[in-house]
This record gives sequence, C-alpha cells and structure tokens, in this order.
Amino acid sequence: MSNIVVIGAQWGDEGKGKIIDILTKDTDYVVRYQGGNNAGHTVVVGKEEIILHLIPSGILHKNKKCIIGNGVVIDPEALLSEVSYVKAKGISIGDNLGISDQAHVIFPYHKVLDKLREEKFSKTKIGTTGRGIGPCYTDKFSRAGIRIADLYNERIFKDKLESNMEEKNAIFSKVYNYKKFSFEKIYEQYREYAKIMKPHICNCSVVLNQAIKKKKRILFEGAQGTLLDIDHGTYPFVTSSNSTSGGACVGTGVGPTKIDKAIGIVKAYTTRVGEGPFPTEFSAELLNKIRQKGREFGATTGRPRRCGWFDAVICKNAVTVNGLDAIAVTKLDVLDEMPVLKICVGYKYKDKLYTDFPADLEVLWKAKPVYIECPGWLKDTSQAKKYMDLPANARKYLRKIEQLAGAKIEIISIGSDRNQTLFV
Ligand code: GDP
Ligand code: IMO
Ligand code: MG
Repeated sequence: MSNIVVIGAQWGDEGKGKIIDILTKDTDYVVRYQGGNNAGHTVVVGKEEIILHLIPSGILHKNKKCIIGNGVVIDPEALLSEVSYVKAKGISIGDNLGISDQAHVIFPYHKVLDKLREEKFSKTKIGTTGRGIGPCYTDKFSRAGIRIADLYNERIFKDKLESNMEEKNAIFSKVYNYKKFSFEKIYEQYREYAKIMKPHICNCSVVLNQAIKKKKRILFEGAQGTLLDIDHGTYPFVTSSNSTSGGACVGTGVGPTKIDKAIGIVKAYTTRVGEGPFPTEFSAELLNKIRQKGREFGATTGRPRRCGWFDAVICKNAVTVNGLDAIAVTKLDVLDEMPVLKICVGYKYKDKLYTDFPADLEVLWKAKPVYIECPGWLKDTSQAKKYMDLPANARKYLRKIEQLAGAKIEIISIGSDRNQTLFV
C-alpha cells in the first residue's frame, strides 16, 4: 500500500498527530487537505511536545515533503508564526514545506466575524475555535474568496480585497456595530506575507501526481473528525470542510483511484470540544477523572474537552462514510483505572432503537444510549511492548470495538510517546 488517508473517526483530537508522525516513517509526502489552524495535532518526541496547526504532522522527519493542500484555508500570520515555532524546536523548514497556490486565505475580518457571530447569536453558537475558518469557507463557496495565487497578482488582489472589504465593512457596521477595517493596512500586510511565503508556493495537484508517477508514497492528513464533517457530521455543530476521507481528493487534486487505503483514528473513549449533541457524554464525576488522566484540554484553544463512553454507533458510521480499511485505537492507557467500561451500541428515542447514526438533531440531543458493559483491566498498559502484553480484558475491549465498528485494529496507542505504540 502506498498512498494512505488518515482521518479522525470521532469529533477530532483522536491522536491523529501522533499516529501520522509514526506513519510518516514509511511515506515520502504528508499533505493536509482541509481545515486550517482550527486543528491542533500533537506530536511528542521524548520530552518535547510539538503542536502543529497548519503544518503537516510529518514535518519532524527529515527528507519528507509536507504540503498544505488547496482544500486548506490558510491564515498567513498563523502559518508564519508556526514556521518560527517549529524552527525554534530545531526543525528546518525550506524545500520540505509546500503551500498550494489554490488554497484560500483567511483575513482579519474572517476571524473577527467568526467571534462576533458566536457572541451576537449566542443561542445558536457552535463553539468555534474563533480562527475565521467558517467565514473563510463561506467566501470560498460564495465565490468571493481570495486564494494564495491571487496575492501575487497586484490588480486581482486589489480588486478582490476591495469588494470583499466593502461588503464586510458594511456587515461590521450595520449588523455588529463594529469598527471598520482599513484596506491599506491589510493590503500591505498580506503583500508582505506573500513575499515571505513565495519560496513554498506550489501547484499541489501537479506535485503530488508527479510524485505518484515516480512511485512516491503519500499520506493524506485529515484534520478534525468525521462527526465534524460538514456533510457527515452533527450539522450544524460541525466545522466548515469535508474532514472525511473523500475530502482528500478535492483538497489536493489527487483522484480517488490513487488512494490505496483509509485508516481511522479512534480514541478508546469519546471527546468533543464546543457545542452540539454528544449522546454518551459522562456525568461530572467520571468526566473529571478521564479529563485529568487523558489531559483532555484543547490543543488549539485550551478549552476543556467534553468526555464520554466509547460510541460504536458513530464509529461504525465513520467506517462506512470513510471506507475505512483499518482503525488505530489511541489512549487505551487512559482507561487503565476504570473497573467497568461501557460501549454504546444504539440510541433509544420514543420507543425506537437507532443503530445507524441518525441525522435528526432531536434524536441526537434526547436519545438514551444503549450500553453494553465490559470489565476493566485495572492494570497499567502504558509499558506494553506488544499486543499480547496487554491485559486480557483490554484485549477483549479492543476486540469488541473492532467487531462493533466493522474494521480491523492495526495500531494501538498506549501513551503519547512514539514508542508507546503497538502494531497488531
Ligand atoms: P489530534 O488533533 O487528533 O492530533 O489530537 P490532539 O493532539 O489534539 O490530542 C491528542 C492528545 O492525546 C495529545 O496531547 C497527544 O499527545 C495525546 N495522546 C495521543 N495518543 C495518546 C495515547 O495513546 N495515550 C495518551 N495518554 N495520550 C495520547
Ligand atoms: P483537530 O484536527 C476538535 C470544533 C470546534 C467547534 C467546531 C467548529 O485537532 O482534531 P471551527 O473553528 O472549525 O469553525 O469550529 O469544530 N473543532 C475541533 N474540535 N478538534 C479539532 O481539530 C477541531 N477543529 C474544530 O471546537 O465545535
Ligand atoms: Mg487536536
């Protein structure tokens, strides 16, 4: 297998960064295909923790090319500060980083609009990361967006920015009673960013398809998770892109016939950040226990993550909509001290049992999860070196997940470090 897409199978933060870093060893290119710096992907090497938001998680490996694909939305200010952050960790950034000329650009007005919308319409708030992701994708799909390539054409950039700002400034003053943005300041600032980014700009589709012809291997790095996908997630409590495996094709310009395998990253329990239904969410006592043990605080915003039992309904859905060939189960060690574990196998609402993921928000908000119970293992798993070192009940729990999800487990993660990884 050469070209692999790796996605989050839940609501994000499944440990994609860790697993992608490990899989990078056997690949040549790592490419992000959607989302933006709303993502926070953690890679731990020894005592060093590196959190990546826009730069693909393969960047720590030498001689691997990392590309930010056309489907990503790029905040140049955030990207350049991330480049400095990564360099300060001793990682060199040069030819190893590519930026698609077709990616859309996040502007200051997108970020402000994101925050103002959440504040003003608080009843319907999503709990976004406030990074301007939704407003930038809105412009993209309304065909008003500004792409990286546009920054290098003085006339086109000027025209586009002017019309965008005319519209945005009217919205700011009339809807939000917020001060107007200055065209000149943004224009000059973004021309400056463009100069700095220039050496990295590429045609992502051409680069990757040429690489495929040369039999190079590509890893497509999903951000967010299946339940945050704009089509397949808990809409409207989702992000604004296709975080499922299908997004890899449109977000890079590589055809589906060129992708050989899809791997889903699955946390051994469930978490979500932000608003929206979460059928298996824990009550306060369990929540605190798992949140502390699993250090469940957002890698991007630092917000405490909501936590709950493993939900096989959403996992089965993720296997289906992503066409998963295999899953990687992460954070098994976090459950080491639990005497009993629950797995949700269906939702019950008004006498109806749902075993397929329902679209109806009322069902998702109000349904009672139907659980099966598994005995815990009450042993430390974090030092296991091979699958058979895991306690019998841990292996049983994993087998149950595998059976209910309908995809085989290929990787098990028992700690954030690279060597706390078991291959089945
Ligand atoms: P991502 O967004 O999917 O890349 O995940 P995040 O980086 O936002 O969150 C995952 C967190 O769990 C990070 O702090 C990782 O270092 C950590 N992590 C990953 N795998 C494991 C694991 O198997 N056990 C434990 N205890 N932590 C893990
Ligand atoms: P990674 O890649 C977890 C959530 C936000 C919010 C919703 C919409 O680290 O798994 P947005 O800013 O995208 O418009 O917010 O999506 N969200 C994430 N939750 N992990 C992420 O990324 C997320 N990216 C966005 O909390 O509920
Ligand atoms: Mg994350």
